[in-house]
Amino acid sequence: MEFPFDINQLFSERISVMDQTLIAGRKSAGRPDLQAHIATVIDELGRASAKAQQLTAPITSASKLQSQRHQLYLLKDGESSGGRGVVVGFLKVGYKKLFLLDRQGVHIEAEPLCVLDFYIAENLQRNGYGLELFDFMLQHKNLEPVLMAYDRPSPKLLSFLAKHYCLTQSVPQVNNFVVFEGFFLNRTVVQLRKVPPKKPDGEIKPYSLMEREAVRQEQRSLPWPFAPSHSPQRSVYSQYSHSLSVGSSPTRAPPRVAPPSSPGGNRDQSPRSPLVDRCRARRTSSLNRSQLGFH
Ligand code: COA
Repeated sequence: MEFPFDINQLFSERISVMDQTLIAGRKSAGRPDLQAHIATVIDELGRASAKAQQLTAPITSASKLQSQRHQLYLLKDGESSGGRGVVVGFLKVGYKKLFLLDRQGVHIEAEPLCVLDFYIAENLQRNGYGLELFDFMLQHKNLEPVLMAYDRPSPKLLSFLAKHYCLTQSVPQVNNFVVFEGFFLNRTVVQLRKVPPKKPDGEIKPYSLMEREAVRQEQRSLPWPFAPSHSPQRSVYSQYSHSLSVGSSPTRAPPRVAPPSSPGGNRDQSPRSPLVDRCRARRTSSLNRSQLGFH
């Protein structure tokens, strides 16, 4: 993604981490002119991501980033465009209070780190950039992908998670978030808490209303836990039959967990955890076996 200004002047690192301040390193601090360019870049990325996901409006923009406690990781290629650099893509994450169902269908309150938006420029997709960005974020947050929640992931993101992190088995939810097997095992990291069974409706806050809610044009029915037909203790296994809660775009097709795609020729970053190690090792070994003619 090219811009009519020097990307390398704005972003000194290959991956910049930005928050409410919209400052991307020392250079842009106290420089309104550079911050205006940074805002232009974020707005443009947000628009491109919304288009790629067929959302009615962007869920990422400079003004949204300024008003929310999210973090945006931006990846550039500093060598392209005659040394001025191009923007490759971004990943936006943030903590959300969510009501989730565990494997037994018990409602659990959790505040995991969520993937809120993720985009790599069309012409650069499937080259390993998404993995580079995602791995960087995992290291920065010191987190495993299985401990995160994914806000209405697109089929491409589901395929990405299956391929790189072996995340294929999701735990059915009644909201638009996807979590995977293993999420509920580490209670300390994701701060899980069983929701008390007899809590009066009025005390339960609509925690997970979020930016995708802002682009919501349709389906104005009451979200869980307010909808009368859903008691907090009821287990619901129709994962994507509702778009009840909590702030996802209604315009994107319901997510489906895709099977792991076959190993491609993408650049693999060094894996971080034993789990990811095993996943990637399995992939490599099956690739080697098929190359050797084993089946
Ligand atoms: N169709 C299906 N799967 C795709 C895909 C596509 N067009 N593009 C990427 N993927 C998945 C596949 O699993 C792919 O592996 P494969 O090529 O062996 O099938 C893997 O991602 C490639 O990994 P990587 O190159 O690191 O990913 P990326 O740089 O393409 O970034 C996304 C992944 C999802 C960020 C990128 O595809 C994208 O921006 N998509 C459009 C926006 C989007 O859907 N964002 C998710 C928001 S919920």
